[in-house]
Amino acid sequence: MANVIVIGAQWGDEGKGKITDLLSKSADIVVRYQGGVNAGHTIVVGGQTLKLHLIPSGILYPDTECIIGCGTVIDPQVLIGELEQLKKLNISTKNLQISETAHVTMPYHRLIDIAAEERRGSHKIGTTGRGIGPTYADKSERTGIRVLDLMDEKGLRKQLKWAVEYKNVILEKLYELPPLDPETVIEQYLNYAEVLRPYVVDTSLKIYDAIHRRRNILFEGAQGTLLDLDHGTYPYVTSSNPVAGGACIGTGVGPTAIDRVIGVAKAYTTRVGEGPFPTELVGEIGEKLCDRGAEFGTTTGRKRRCGWFDAVIGRYAVRINGMDCIAITKLDVLDELEEIKVCIAYEIDGVEFKDFPRNARRFAECRPIYKVLPGWKQSTENCRSLEDLPRQALDYLKFLAELMDVPIAIVSLGASREQTIIVEDPIHGPKRALLDANGTPVAS
Ligand code: IMP
Repeated sequence: MANVIVIGAQWGDEGKGKITDLLSKSADIVVRYQGGVNAGHTIVVGGQTLKLHLIPSGILYPDTECIIGCGTVIDPQVLIGELEQLKKLNISTKNLQISETAHVTMPYHRLIDIAAEERRGSHKIGTTGRGIGPTYADKSERTGIRVLDLMDEKGLRKQLKWAVEYKNVILEKLYELPPLDPETVIEQYLNYAEVLRPYVVDTSLKIYDAIHRRRNILFEGAQGTLLDLDHGTYPYVTSSNPVAGGACIGTGVGPTAIDRVIGVAKAYTTRVGEGPFPTELVGEIGEKLCDRGAEFGTTTGRKRRCGWFDAVIGRYAVRINGMDCIAITKLDVLDELEEIKVCIAYEIDGVEFKDFPRNARRFAECRPIYKVLPGWKQSTENCRSLEDLPRQALDYLKFLAELMDVPIAIVSLGASREQTIIVEDPIHGPKRALLDANGTPVAS
C-alpha cells in the first residue's frame, strides 16, 4: 500500500467511514489525527449497532493497529464507553493505542461549550456541545490536561485542583452555573486513567517505526475541509485541522512520509450547524435528499441541511488538501430526480467568481450559478461498474471530475461494502495530473 490520508472534501459527513473501512483492509495501521467526540459513525456488526466517536473503525479488523493521535481531543468517559461496547461484541481492543500527548476533554469543557453557544445568541456556531472548542482552546492557552498528565496521580491532583477552581470562576461568574467539585472531578479522572493506562504510548514514535518498516498507514480525518479552523468557513468551523496537512501535525509524522491524499465528497452537499451554505435547498428537493440520504447526525441526531453539489467548494478542497483522487458517495440518493443542479461558480451583484470567498459575510451573499443536468430516474444501487451506470449518471460524475480537476477513484451507491464501484485503484492508480511548464499534463 502506501501512507494515505483520507479527508472530507465538504462540511463533514461525506461518508468517510465507509471509504476508510474499505481501505482499512489493506492498512497495517489506521490513525485518527484530529477532532474528538464531535465526530462519529455507526457500524453494524453481526446485526448489532456500534457507535464509534473516537476509536477508528479499523478496530474491527483483528490485525489492524488503531491509533488515536496527538491532534485529537479525548473524552475519556466516551472512549471508555466505546471500549465497553467493543468488549460486549467480543471485539478485541488489544491493537488500540492512544497518544500520551492528546488533550483531554473535562466536564467543564462540555459545560462551557453549551453555555457559550447560548450566550452567542444569533452568532451561534451550532457546535455539537461536546466540549471540543473549549478543550482545544485550553490547549492553545496552555492550560490543558494531556493524557500523560492523567497518568501521574500526584501531578494530576495539583493540576486539576487549580484547573477546576479556575474554570469555576468562569462557570459561576460568567455563565451563572453551579461550580464543580474539584475532588469529584479528580477521583473520576483518576478512575478513567486506570482504564486507559494500558493503551497509552508515544504514538509518534510507533508511527515513525512503522513507516521505517514499510507498514501501510491510513490517516483518517474527521469532519471536513470546510470545517477546518484555518481553511474552512470561519467562524462556522470546528477547532481542529481536518485538512490533509493536519495529519502530519496531529500524528507527529513528517510530510515526506505521505504518499497519497484521497478526498471523499457526497454527490450532493450537506451541512450541520450554522453558517452560510450557498447551494442549500429549503424545499421539497432538500427534504427528499434528507429522507433518501438519511441525513441525521450520528453524534447529535440533528437534521442535516441538504443542497446541490458545489464544485467551487470541491475545487477548493482539491487545492487545499493536495488531493490525488476522490471518492464520490451516495450517488444513489439522486436516483429519482428529474434534473440535478451543480454549482459551477458564485455570483455577487452580477460579478461572477470561481473561488470561495474567505469572509463569512461575503460568502453568505454568494448566489450559486448552476449548470442543470438531466437525472437518470432509475436505481443505481446495484451497479457494480461504470458500465452498469445509466449514461446520465456517468455524465454527472465526469462533469464533477472535470470541474474539480481530480480523478474519481471510487463511487459509492449505498451503505454496504458491496455497493461500491472501484473506478481506479485509489492507492496505486493515477494521481491528479501535474502540469509541465507549458501547462500540459505530465504522467504521475
Ligand atoms: P464543534 O466541533 O462541536 O465545536 O462544532 C463546530 C461546527 O462543526 C458545528 O457546525 C458542528 O455542527 C460541526 N461539526 C463538528 N463535527 C462534525 C461532524 O462530524 N460532522 C459534521 N459537522 C460537524
